Amino acid sequence: MKDAVSEAALLIKKARTCTAFTGAGISVESGIAPFRGEGGIWGKYDPKYLELSYFLAHPEESWVVIKKLFFDHFVQAEPNKAHKVLARLEAADLLQAIITQNIDNLHHRAGSKQVIEFHGNSRRLVCLECRYATDIRDDLWQSLPPRCPQCTAVLKPDFVFFGESIPSEAFSNSFVYAVKSDVMLVIGSTGEVYPAASVPEHARQSGAKIIEINPQPSEFTGRITDLFLQGKATEVLSALEKAIFT
Ligand code: APR
Repeated sequence: MKDAVSEAALLIKKARTCTAFTGAGISVESGIAPFRGEGGIWGKYDPKYLELSYFLAHPEESWVVIKKLFFDHFVQAEPNKAHKVLARLEAADLLQAIITQNIDNLHHRAGSKQVIEFHGNSRRLVCLECRYATDIRDDLWQSLPPRCPQCTAVLKPDFVFFGESIPSEAFSNSFVYAVKSDVMLVIGSTGEVYPAASVPEHARQSGAKIIEINPQPSEFTGRITDLFLQGKATEVLSALEKAIFT
């Protein structure tokens, strides 16, 4: 592993454009359960609550699960070492952007600036009727489902549900960075969900070296990964940080 980490450190230092594509795995060591694999959310809860059609037809039932799974869960989580190393790489101009599938806001809270939220985020609620939008506020939780103060329609979290399209700016920015990347770190993702998983694929097709960090092989590993650093995100990124900065 030591040689692979040294090789990865060299690739990152030499890259003109280095990016990171992150999935739920990077937040596991912050106490946020992944969606799949060991302790995965979809092994305990029906994904239907995040299907737009089901949510619109059953807002009360869906909101009880959504608030428990995401909003209650996220407030206790803190950025971990892996989030912080990515923020340090960006501050040292060794990482130009993070494209994340995560909606937990931990990259921002770790200090990363150029964060593209491919699946939106959990900082805001929006009204699908009148486009009212608000940052999360405690008074919104007085009763579920939270309702729009302007038109009383049910408010929806500002993250992407199954059946919803990817925010167009996040989508296009992600592929602009994918094409520009000389190196892309792919951290903590099964690579099972599209179109997100096509971002590292596009980077690879455009000539990027893919450095994957994951305790388990993913859908990327045998197909597009050039360097597989097998391990937990905090451990591997700590080793990378040492190899790059000392
Ligand atoms: N460090 C790094 N990776 C880890 C760790 C860890 N400590 N623990 C688990 N992982 C890896 C798992 O091996 C797995 O590959 O994280 C990945 C988690 O997979 P998923 O839960 O499927 O996460 P992700 O690929 O981000 O899911 C994509 O699915 O439900 C949708 O919108 C949701 O954004 C999510 C998308």
